[in-house]
Amino acid sequence: MRVGVPKEVAPESRVAAVPEVLAKFKRAGLELLVESGAGEASGFSDEDYREKGASVGTREEALACPIVLAVEPPATESLSKDSILICMPDPLGQAPRIAELARQGVTCFAMELMPRISRAQSMDVLSSMANVAGYKAVLLAAAQLPKLFPLMMTAAGTVRPAKVFILGAGVAGLQAIATARRLGAIVEGYDIRSDTKEQVESLGARFVEFDLGIGDMQDEGGYAKELTDEQKTLQAKLMAEAIQSSDCVITTAQVPGRKAPLLIPAEVVEGMKPGSVIVDMAADSGGNCALSEPGQEVVAHGVTIIGTSNLPGTVSQSCSTLYANNLITFLAELVDDEGQPNLDMENEVIAGPLACHQGEVTHSRILEILS
Ligand code: NAI
Repeated sequence: MRVGVPKEVAPESRVAAVPEVLAKFKRAGLELLVESGAGEASGFSDEDYREKGASVGTREEALACPIVLAVEPPATESLSKDSILICMPDPLGQAPRIAELARQGVTCFAMELMPRISRAQSMDVLSSMANVAGYKAVLLAAAQLPKLFPLMMTAAGTVRPAKVFILGAGVAGLQAIATARRLGAIVEGYDIRSDTKEQVESLGARFVEFDLGIGDMQDEGGYAKELTDEQKTLQAKLMAEAIQSSDCVITTAQVPGRKAPLLIPAEVVEGMKPGSVIVDMAADSGGNCALSEPGQEVVAHGVTIIGTSNLPGTVSQSCSTLYANNLITFLAELVDDEGQPNLDMENEVIAGPLACHQGEVTHSRILEILS
C-alpha cells in the first residue's frame, strides 16, 4: 500500500517521514511517496529519499495515496474520501477541524490522542516533541539573559551562576531542568502533581513546594487537574517570591483541552529584576504569563517574555526524525502482514487516537467539545 507525505505549508518546517525510516516502511509492506521538496526545510533532499527507495512525486500524487502522513492536516478538500490521514491536528484545541475531516469522509488519527501507556511510548508524539521543546526553551532563555548560566571562576573574577525556575515538571519541564543543569545554572522546579518531586530532584534541581491546602492534583490519566479560581490566586501569590528571585523562569504548565493556567500575573513580572527572562511554553494555549504574546518576544518592566510558538519546528531535522519514528511505529501496528490497514478497535493504540471514521467524529473528548 502507498503512503503519501505532502510538503507542509510554511511556517511549519517539519516533515512526517525522513529517509532513515524507509527500511521500516518496506518491512511493514508499505511504499512511500513524498511530494518533491517535502524534506527541504528539515535538510532532506528529494535525492536522499530516492536513495533509500521512496518515490518523489507531485502534491496531488502524495495526497491521493490511501494513507497520508502529515504534521499539520492538509486542506480538507484536497484529501480523498476514505483516505486515512495520520497527523497532529490539535484535536482538542481545534475540534471543528476534525468535524470537517469527518464530513469529507476521511479517517483521521490524531496522534496527540495516543494513550499515555508504556506500550505506546514509542508512538507518543506529545512526549517526543515536548522533550525537544523543553531543551530549546532553555537555549532561548540562555541566549537572551544578560548573564552566564554557569559559575565561572576566571582570572578576571568569579561570576555567580544564574538561577532558573521551571514551572510545570511534565516532559518539557523535566527536559528544561536537565538542560539548564547541564548549562550549569542553579535550578528549581515546581508542579502541582506531587509525583514530580522525586523526578525533579533526581535531575539535581530543588523542588519548590507551596501549600495550596489541597490533596494530590493528579487525575487518573496522570495529568494535572484544573485548579479553582481561588486556588489559582493563592498559587500565584505564593509563587511570586520564587519567581522574582530567579533570573529565568520557564513555564510549561498545561491542562489538556483547557486554557493554560495563569501562573505569572502582570504585577509579579513588574517585581522581577530588570534583564530577567521568561519563556512561556504555554503561550499558544492561553499563556502561563499574563504578558506573553503567542509567537512574540515582548519586553515589559525590563523583563523579556518569550511567547514561544512551535518550538519543535525550530529543531526541524531532529523533530522530523523523532516524529517519523513515532508514525512508522504506529503504522506498523495499523497495517496487517500485507500492508493493508486493519482498524482493530480492540487495540487501544488504534482506537485511542482515532478522531473520525466513516463520516463520524469518533472520539468522546472531541464530541464533548463540539457539543
Ligand atoms: P502537560 O504538557 O499536559 O503539562 C505540563 C505540566 O504542567 C504537567 O506536569 C502538569 O502537572 C503541570 N501543571 C498543570 N497545571 C499546573 C499548575 N497550575 N501549576 C503547576 N504545574 C501545573 O504534561 P505532559 O508533559 O504531557 O505530562 C503529563 C503526564 O503524562 C505526566 O504524568 C507524565 O509523566 C505522563 N506521561 C506518561 C507517559 C507514558 O506513560 N507513556 C508519556 C509521557 C507523559
